Amino acid sequence: MKKHTEPLLSVRDLNFKFTLRGQVLHALRDISLDVYPGESLAIVGESGSGKSVFVKCLMGLNDLNGYVESGSIEYGGKDLTLLKTDSDWKDIRGSRIAMVLQDPMTSLNPLKTIGWQIEEAVRLHQGLKGAEAKKAVYSILEEVGISEPERRAKQYPHEFSGGMRQRVVIAIAMACRPEILICDEPTTALDVTIQAQILGLIRQMQKKYNLTTIYITHDLGVVANVADRIAVMYAGEIVEVGTSDEVFYDPRHPYTWALLSSLPQLGVKGEPLYSIEGTPPNLFHEVKGDAFAPRNPKALKIDYVKRPPMFAVTATHSARTWLIDPRAPKVDPPEHILALRERGKDLVAKAAAEGTALYGASAPEEETGAAASAAVNEENGSAKGVTARG
Ligand SMILES: Nc1ncnc2c1ncn2[C@@H]1O[C@H](COP(=O)(O)OP(=O)(O)OP(=O)(O)O)[C@@H](O)[C@H]1O
Ligand SMILES: [Mg+2]
Repeated sequence: MKKHTEPLLSVRDLNFKFTLRGQVLHALRDISLDVYPGESLAIVGESGSGKSVFVKCLMGLNDLNGYVESGSIEYGGKDLTLLKTDSDWKDIRGSRIAMVLQDPMTSLNPLKTIGWQIEEAVRLHQGLKGAEAKKAVYSILEEVGISEPERRAKQYPHEFSGGMRQRVVIAIAMACRPEILICDEPTTALDVTIQAQILGLIRQMQKKYNLTTIYITHDLGVVANVADRIAVMYAGEIVEVGTSDEVFYDPRHPYTWALLSSLPQLGVKGEPLYSIEGTPPNLFHEVKGDAFAPRNPKALKIDYVKRPPMFAVTATHSARTWLIDPRAPKVDPPEHILALRERGKDLVAKAAAEGTALYGASAPEEETGAAASAAVNEENGSAKGVTARG
């Protein structure tokens, strides 16, 4: 991963609420996050954790019953929380920041040809006309992996498969020449092989155009290989953020432990897959303490009483859990996580040797992981996503 200097976009203490039938839902709670130029940032968390509401704040696309209560989003010398009307947003939405949604059909016009829809973006954002615009359309189609572009440009969305439609949506987004591409669960509706292809395509675009991507998913396994950094959301807050290696191999928040433990890739054959008990808190009520405490079998007393601050683990890694407080009792993560930590040690050493040292010095050296690690490897041959990282 590149070393980052100045963030491209900075979110500070963002609180976002919805009013619904006289009640207030606190959807985003004190979110602070920097997004760096050219990076691929993944946001993971289960349904309802606030991932979509968060990225919609970056484009002013939340429902009208929602409002920013406090905080700021600095981007391009502006505070985006102050933009209100469509005309305020005009220079940013769909031009500097573009979004690809889960269901490509919601972004495509069923009554217009694919070529027409891409050409519209090309005309609007690149100022091309006539034959030149057509040429650009064909080359974008080819770039996103659609062969015979001249023939396919004349077709309608319903003549394309789900994966192909998503490629078209990406083509339209790219025709806008955005600086930031937000992908909100763009592969959830697709089968696994197609998912991997779409992910690969996004990654390719990111590299080629030095595009900054924000990728949303509820599946931590999906982003293991593609994200530079991962932010984990729970109940409207970011509970952990770090480089992909840090979050994978040295997760600190019990919710991240739980997310990782429920990955099929990490499961031990013959044993039931871990699932997180209980449900997330109701955000219509103010959350007390650590939001994950009621679902955390190893919760501390203080977790029920006081909300933990964001503790820094390294310069790039922080987590909102009392476990990092020096006064906290030592609580070991589950076996799977210890095994991962053990595996990650080598990566850490490698990173240090390469002088990147992104991991910092504070990653603890656990003794207990080796046996579990061996067990996971043996039982699970290629612990897919995770092995592929090594
Ligand atoms: N218009 C709205 N009015 C009231 N509450 C809303 C509104 N839009 C979203 N919410 C609430 O905000 C919270 C966060 O929703 P969000 O859509 O961001 O979740 P998510 O993490 O994207 O989940 P998923 O993985 O299911 O897409 C949820 O509790 C949701 O019910
Ligand atoms: Mg969502």
